[in-house]
Amino acid sequence: MTLTLDEIRGRVLALCEGEDDAIALMATMATELFHGVDGFDWVGFYRVTAPGMLKIGPYQGGHGCLQIPFDRGVCGASASRETTLRVDDVDAFPGHIACAASTKSELVVRGFDASGTLIAVLDLDSDTPAFFTAAHQEFIENLVADVFGQITA
Ligand code: SME
Repeated sequence: MTLTLDEIRGRVLALCEGEDDAIALMATMATELFHGVDGFDWVGFYRVTAPGMLKIGPYQGGHGCLQIPFDRGVCGASASRETTLRVDDVDAFPGHIACAASTKSELVVRGFDASGTLIAVLDLDSDTPAFFTAAHQEFIENLVADVFGQITA
C-alpha cells in the first residue's frame, strides 16, 4: 500500500489521540509507517534503556538486533551525535549495523517525551539506495515530535 505522507500522518494522529503510553504509540507508528509506504522496508524503534544503550522496541519487518550501544550503528550515532541521520548508502557509513543485507539506505530520527528526555530513536530502512528524501525526513521528524510529545510518564 502506498499512502501519501499526509494520509499517514492523519491516520497516526487519529489512532494515537489521547494515548500517552510509549509502547502503544511506538507500535502504532511502526505499523502505519511500514504498511503505508512501499520502500519503508523496516520500521522500528530502539529505546534508551540505560545511559548509552538502545534496545529494540516495537518494529515491523525482519528481525532487528536487540541491543545497540550509542557508539555503534546509525542508530547509536544519531543518539550520541544528537541529530537526525539520513544515510543514502549504508555501506559507506562507518559502523553501520547490517541487520538485513538488503538494507541500502536509512533514516534515523530521535524521539523526546513531553519533558524533553530522549527516550527512543525511530529507524527506517529501505532496500533502495538513497530512498529517503528531505521531505521524508521533515515528515518523520514532525510526526515523531508530535506523537512522542504525548508521552508524559
Ligand atoms: N542499521 C541499524 C541497525 C538496526 S537495523 O538495521 C534493524 C544501525 O546501523 O543502527
